[in-house]
Amino acid sequence: MRVRINRRDFGRLLGLSASAATLPAAGAPNPGNKMAGDRKFPAGFLWGTATSAYQIEGATGEDGRGLSIWDTFSRVKTNTYTGNNGDVADDHFHRYREDIALMHGLGIKAYQFSVSWSRIFPEGKGAVNPCGWDFYDRMLDALLAVGIEPFCTLYHWDLPQALMSGGGWQSLDTAKAFSDYSANAAKHLSDRVKNFITISEVSTFVDDGYLYGSDAPGLKLSNAQVAQVAHNVLVGHGLAVRAVRANARAGTKVGIADNAVSTCPVIETREHIDAARIAYREENARVLTVIQEGRYTDHYLKALGADAPKFTAEELQVISTPLDFTGLNIYEPTWVRASSTAPGYEVVDMPKSYPRMAAGWLEFGPDGMYWSPKFAHELWKLKDIYITENGAASWDVPTSTGEVLDTDRILFLRSYLTQLLRGINECVPVKGYFLWTLMDNYEWTDGYAMRFGITYVDYKTQKRTVKLSGEFYKEVIARNGLA
Ligand code: BGC
Repeated sequence: MRVRINRRDFGRLLGLSASAATLPAAGAPNPGNKMAGDRKFPAGFLWGTATSAYQIEGATGEDGRGLSIWDTFSRVKTNTYTGNNGDVADDHFHRYREDIALMHGLGIKAYQFSVSWSRIFPEGKGAVNPCGWDFYDRMLDALLAVGIEPFCTLYHWDLPQALMSGGGWQSLDTAKAFSDYSANAAKHLSDRVKNFITISEVSTFVDDGYLYGSDAPGLKLSNAQVAQVAHNVLVGHGLAVRAVRANARAGTKVGIADNAVSTCPVIETREHIDAARIAYREENARVLTVIQEGRYTDHYLKALGADAPKFTAEELQVISTPLDFTGLNIYEPTWVRASSTAPGYEVVDMPKSYPRMAAGWLEFGPDGMYWSPKFAHELWKLKDIYITENGAASWDVPTSTGEVLDTDRILFLRSYLTQLLRGINECVPVKGYFLWTLMDNYEWTDGYAMRFGITYVDYKTQKRTVKLSGEFYKEVIARNGLA
């Protein structure tokens, strides 16, 4: 099964610590724009679902698509659950009309999809594949025809294989190639796509792909090399933000989808809340903090010592190019309490009995949906925040009548959405929510064994069946609220 690395382990591995300096004090409770107990979301709240190219498209050999690192990695049978790969996946490449109709039927307002870079640039750079955009053109036209707003992610882990000859993200050449591809995407798509996301979850693919070797490209590099990879990816992100702005139509927005560590106070007292805010900044020092502040924190650099990434002032400027919105992917919590020793917080381990969802790495923790956007907003005064991913796997088994009664997923979603609303009612500017994921799909090294969809996919027939959680989500969207 997939070796999922708990995302806070990186910081702890480094013995990362934090300082309380320059942080705002905990704010007084915000009266907000709603009455306590109001369970409605603000008018115009954007309800969406998210997917990614390699996880759903299939058709890996069609229309001149080049190989990606996930094609290569998943073809080594021992790398994934029972040798599963994404050659067919949900066959979305051919069934996108049905999938869009499904979304439309659920009342979904926005759809976050990712582009397969290797369809556009089969070699990662150089010549554009003449049929590269055809599928996305068809798909976007069908989406817009039913009034669903597209959010386009440019990179969700499927690097063109050809770029590995230069070391993949180990080289800044990849950042440059990513920028060129992003420019091309902005030119081609911005008549229809108004929101671009550069990269999905830097920490996950950097750690799992380059440190632990559990995901593509399967490398096990040193801490110093990995810190450099993460830095190079962020340079690629910043260059892409600039490339989208320079090439897209006026009014196009660009952001990132980051799985920021969701630090939550163990008990909601002032001292633990302050500690969790310090922790948010330091535990996210490697990605979100440097993007927002334009510098790596002192503690991050000190903890890495000789392993710290090499960088220039100009690169930090590129990395911190202002965003139009910040996307937060929110799954498991990291519990924090105050500590009298520097840096003023400590991460509290979870006991064996801690409740988890079907994917073992996903500890239940709806509080993260309140604290992560709240801290991000308090620390960096963000304009617009989107929850770019949230969802859970269940052991879904259809009943004899073909229903999928995934009450655990409903419990998860309702609990997380309740906490999201708590923040919104305190004026945290969250503008939309993308549920991960529209339909069961290729769950990376867990193959087809782990189901995250609100729609059940029978992989033998490709039949889609909306699960009970899909009905729940439909109701939430229709009411624009939880009650
Ligand atoms: C990733 C998705 C993945 C999901 C469940 C997210 O972090 O972006 O690609 O399917 O987690 O593991």
